[in-house]
Amino acid sequence: MKFFADTADTADIAALAATGLLDGVTTNPSLIAKSGRNFLEVIREICTLVDGPVSAEVVATTTADMLREAEVLKKLGENICIKLPLTLDGLTACKALSDEGTMTNVTLCFSANQALLAAKAGATFISPFVGRLDDIGFDGIQLIEDIKMIYDNYAFETEILVASVRHPVHVLQAAKLGADVATMPPAVIRALANHPLTDKGLAAFTADWASTGQSIL
Ligand code: E4P
Repeated sequence: MKFFADTADTADIAALAATGLLDGVTTNPSLIAKSGRNFLEVIREICTLVDGPVSAEVVATTTADMLREAEVLKKLGENICIKLPLTLDGLTACKALSDEGTMTNVTLCFSANQALLAAKAGATFISPFVGRLDDIGFDGIQLIEDIKMIYDNYAFETEILVASVRHPVHVLQAAKLGADVATMPPAVIRALANHPLTDKGLAAFTADWASTGQSIL
């Protein structure tokens, strides 16, 4: 399973990249606003921090304008993935970009039928939002299971990029279903490494080692 960081905070991205566990980055207009930085500058910098796909989202709502914005975004780095909303205009732009070999990420997916359309439009990634579905009383992870079944039925190559991840249990459930990617806030990526018994065990090993009076170096 690939891990993408769902942030536009370049310090966080650099720190996560140094672990060797980071496979890409996703951003959206809200994350750009939170960064307080210039959109084009911050995306250009993120592209230098990771080798994998960096999703940069269009803000236009018509196909023609989305494609014009994509032309600008594509120049920011060789690993740019154009993020498009799951509307008919977005899907039309997705098909055009996919046909020319540009990576695409279709976002704001909340149903399996929407995901079916994105795959037919040749999307590189589909982004179902599990957390936002949970927030309104639906089952976000069930959507991942449905999309996985449909994509497997037709051998679609579109990768399932689980988005709006809120906690490590979402990651576990998505991984058990065979989702291709999870994009997570940096805090969730770091939380995956935590376990109280690991901390307790390490403290005991450290104390026992100190009692031997030995050193390895
Ligand atoms: C990622 O591509 C999405 O934009 C993001 O995961 C949305 O997460 P949120 O629901 O926490 O805003």
